[in-house]
Amino acid sequence: MKKDNVTRRNFLKNVGLSAGAVGLFAATGKSEKIIQNLDKTKTKEKPEKVIQGFDDTKTNIDTSKKWKQKFDRKIKVGIVGYGACGFGAAFGFQDHPNVEVVAVSDLFPDRCAGLAKACRCSKTYPSLEELVKDDQIEAVFVATDAPSHAKHIMDVLNHGKHAACAVPVVWGSLEDADKLFETVKKTGLNYMMFETSAYHDDVYAMRTLYNADKLGDILYSEGEYFHYVDHYFPSYKNWRIGVPPMYYPTHATAYYVAVSGGSFTKVACLSKPSILKFIDPKKNSYKNSFGTEIAFLETDNGGMSRMGVSWDTPGHPAEAGLLRCTKGTFKGTFQGLSKNLPELRKPSLPPNVSPGGHGGSHGYLTNEFIMSILEKRKPLVNIGWALNMTVPGIVAHQSALKGGEWLKIPQYNF
Ligand SMILES: NC(=O)c1ccc[n+]([C@@H]2O[C@H](COP(=O)([O-])OP(=O)(O)OC[C@H]3O[C@@H](n4cnc5c(N)ncnc54)[C@H](O)[C@@H]3O)[C@@H](O)[C@H]2O)c1
Repeated sequence: MKKDNVTRRNFLKNVGLSAGAVGLFAATGKSEKIIQNLDKTKTKEKPEKVIQGFDDTKTNIDTSKKWKQKFDRKIKVGIVGYGACGFGAAFGFQDHPNVEVVAVSDLFPDRCAGLAKACRCSKTYPSLEELVKDDQIEAVFVATDAPSHAKHIMDVLNHGKHAACAVPVVWGSLEDADKLFETVKKTGLNYMMFETSAYHDDVYAMRTLYNADKLGDILYSEGEYFHYVDHYFPSYKNWRIGVPPMYYPTHATAYYVAVSGGSFTKVACLSKPSILKFIDPKKNSYKNSFGTEIAFLETDNGGMSRMGVSWDTPGHPAEAGLLRCTKGTFKGTFQGLSKNLPELRKPSLPPNVSPGGHGGSHGYLTNEFIMSILEKRKPLVNIGWALNMTVPGIVAHQSALKGGEWLKIPQYNF
């Protein structure tokens, strides 16, 4: 724990914000600012930066129809993790009419207190491992460090609780992917990955068109997650330092999987060593030298796809994509042969639930997870979708290490 040398208090002190202010920023989807280089071992501080995605709250909602409350019941939720991104409080669980946040946790007492305040909740636990033992809790939102996700989700499920988790679902391990898949199937509980791209306006519209058979067959898809990171970015036990880009592919791969529910079957990925000092293989736990990985993939319908993730290319940041299909093309908007298109704007959210950051996706993810429990159905980004978005990246990185060899991707049919 000591290795994570940015405490939330220092973080807030350095950026000149109170915990409440950050909670508010997160809840309203406004930008959270960070000072780069908060590592206490370094003396130089760089100028403030806005974390990419948190400032992106623009979204297109059909407000003509109000959200209708179908259930009175409140799901009793526990929330874990209030790290550099303040994600535990950023998805509006505390504002949803069908949720009661009964307990929160973070390993750092000051972060735990900040999360409790932001979620207006008085019960806290010193760790996820303690929180999951609380019999009152029915579902847990896991916003911990990415390398811990698989272990934490399994712990939640094995304690008989539904689980939602920030991306990605697993961290570089195909064994964890299989174990988690089996755990979700065995427990019969709901698992949902909070992939923000799944509720970007364009992906929502693409999915609506696809389901209404207005796109036809998807011949070619493209997805990009381009996030220039030339500075120290705080993370628990420094998991962000030198991450192989394709360990974090879901913002890109959602542009196929979260539209069609399909998967990728084969991948060949290329890369070259980065010039950024933050991606020095001698200085990161992954021994990784790649800062940009570009994958070419075969899709389950025999189509083609290009998915890219990059940390070391400045300019034009992107969490974006496009589709070329037999009935038309979606690139920002739809152009093609189909007529009488369905409503493509997102529906209203419950009152007080903000759409939030990352293209106004946060509130929709929470609402979908909660409604899936109440309606006793699979959530949208279920374990199959989550693994079919994440695992191709793990295999893509293996391909890049082999100079771009074509490799088969495991399939998760759920
Ligand atoms: N657009 C997106 O979808 C998006 C954007 C940003 C971050 N994320 C994801 O959100 C997650 C959180 O990001 P972050 O930057 O805040 O991470 P972080 O590494 O800064 O913080 C993780 C937090 O989890 C806590 N934690 C770890 N193990 C715990 C345990 N056993 N019990 C209780 N608390 C524990 C740590 O104390 C720490 O405060 C990551 O998984 C990241 O990938 C997703």
